[in-house]
Amino acid sequence: MKQKNDIFLKACRRESTERTPIWIMRQAGRYLPEYRKIRQRYDFLTMIKTPEIASEVTIQPIEIIGVDAGIIFSDILVLPEAMGLKLYIDEVGGPKFEKNIQNEEDVDRLIIPDPTDKLKYVLNAIELTKRNIDVPLIGFSGSPWTLFAYMVDGSKDFRNAKVLIYSHSKLAHKLLEKIAVSVSRFLISQIESGADAVQIFDTWGGILNRETFEEFSLRYIHYVVEAVKSKFASTVPVILYSKGTWQWMERIIGSGCDVISIDWTFDLKEARERVGDRVSIQGNLDPVVLLSKPDVVVREALKVIDRYGRGDGHIFNLGHGILPETPVDNVKILVETVKSESRKYHK
Ligand code: CP3
Repeated sequence: MKQKNDIFLKACRRESTERTPIWIMRQAGRYLPEYRKIRQRYDFLTMIKTPEIASEVTIQPIEIIGVDAGIIFSDILVLPEAMGLKLYIDEVGGPKFEKNIQNEEDVDRLIIPDPTDKLKYVLNAIELTKRNIDVPLIGFSGSPWTLFAYMVDGSKDFRNAKVLIYSHSKLAHKLLEKIAVSVSRFLISQIESGADAVQIFDTWGGILNRETFEEFSLRYIHYVVEAVKSKFASTVPVILYSKGTWQWMERIIGSGCDVISIDWTFDLKEARERVGDRVSIQGNLDPVVLLSKPDVVVREALKVIDRYGRGDGHIFNLGHGILPETPVDNVKILVETVKSESRKYHK
């Protein structure tokens, strides 16, 4: 076994590191030829439900591009499936539910799943992966609101989900509560199976206004963070990725998370000034930069490192998931650049 690399966890806790750690959202995926080779033989759901395959794909970016953390290969939509919604893969549009939530009976029919039963394949994949890697492993879930948006809605702009919160807020809260309890249990089980940190993906927080964001997204994120923290105190970092909501940064930190993950539309220097030493910051290179020439990748990566500035508490990442068209060599250049050039920003 190689020397353990735990600089990602140290940075989550704002401890001192010799350089800035890096991992990439959606790092296991279609931009890697090694992933596409396996994907040709199996459909996406088979891949995530077979622990040996999920684990192999989780390890690919750790070995191929040299990131400082793994993230278990799965999807946020496996939890609603375990709650009772049938999931299928539309080869063009990605994972979808056969029938969305439409009324109170649909909400009542959903169960709060026991993860050690219905989501055992995720837990097994975590256990298997942990035996074979020397970097920390991240578990994850969608935020209650983001899962709600997919469960209620099939549309692109999630207008049905928004109609439900505006017009039938009591029913919306009933559903969100059920999802929040399910999310908490699922994250706790992932940690008990070996996940070293967890990330909550609030990908659709930014389609709400301040009032509805607080009431229908942040409130339930707060519940989830508290549930995880009451079980594991401060030992397991909780990362919160909430896209397009930086204007409410101070409120978001109030959720009790350890790290905020921000998208590229916000400036890292200003973010750092606003959060002080309360949380670490993850981010925030625009994924589209990785479609450019290598010199542009280096230039833009250096800008991100420099905008954060000297000191600890920065985890380099993209502002959203890596695009399938990304050249692998650009990703390797990005990782090498961050690993070498961030040293001078640390003691
Ligand atoms: O980061 C990782 O490497 C871990 C794996 C991971 C996947 N999805 C694999 C995946 C993670 C963390 C997710 C999270 C996820 N899934 C989110 C939140 C983060 C984000 O990107 O906003 C959301 C909204 C989903 C739902 C989802 N899954 C959609 C909308 C799609 C279709 C779009 C697409 O990228 O194809 C997926 C499919 C998906 N999830 C793929 C992968 C690797 C592509 C599957 C394939 O066809 O091979």
